[in-house]
Amino acid sequence: MSTPVFRYAIQTDVPVLVDLIERAYRSPETAGSWVSEAHLLKGPRTSDAEITGLIALPESRFLVAELDGRIAGCCLLQKTKAVDGQKGKMGEAAYFGMFAIDPSIHSSGLGKIILAEAERQVQALWSVKSMVMTVINLRDKLIEYYQRRGYRLTGAIVPFPFSETSGEVTRDFHLVEMRKDFA
Ligand SMILES: CC(C)(COP(=O)(O)OP(=O)(O)OC[C@H]1O[C@@H](n2cnc3c(N)ncnc32)[C@H](O)[C@@H]1OP(=O)(O)O)[C@@H](O)C(=O)NCCC(=O)NCCS
Repeated sequence: MSTPVFRYAIQTDVPVLVDLIERAYRSPETAGSWVSEAHLLKGPRTSDAEITGLIALPESRFLVAELDGRIAGCCLLQKTKAVDGQKGKMGEAAYFGMFAIDPSIHSSGLGKIILAEAERQVQALWSVKSMVMTVINLRDKLIEYYQRRGYRLTGAIVPFPFSETSGEVTRDFHLVEMRKDFA
């Protein structure tokens, strides 16, 4: 794999980002693999309108990684509020989401590189001391992947945002919050 080049997404990236996210999360390309949620959800993961709106928000960034001039991975970074693990009260943190790697290079190491870069970026952007995310509770291997990168389950449970388009196979799951406090 060549060295990734990082930048923030702009509106003209929207169709490429939507395609990348759809292919990574629920498409037949990844179905059956540890990275897929296709066994739980069959509807669209996102839309042009959602990504357009997220890019436009002032305290929100889509970090993209390009390999040889093409977007190969992305994640959403947002300034948010979360319970400070040490002080036990609300403080500023960064939210990490929409993490997607081109299926043709899954498990090649780009995910780890993007996650580490995301941690650097949110500290530089917003001086936050921690990152939070939510993960489907049934995705054990993904939870372990984040645990190996220093994230821990906070115990907080968030209802999954089922919608008319989420295409769920079952409703027997929810989201769990994970958090990493930066040293
Ligand atoms: C999850 C995802 C972002 C990871 O990125 P990636 O570039 O594919 O993964 P990396 O190369 O960084 O790491 C591969 C890891 O998978 C692990 N792995 C590989 N095959 C595996 C398997 N069959 N079972 C479990 N883990 C496996 C490797 O051990 C490695 O982890 P380690 O370095 O801690 O040992 C990516 O696969 C993806 O886009 N998934 C679909 C979307 C998604 O689920 N996003 C996260 C939502 S919260």
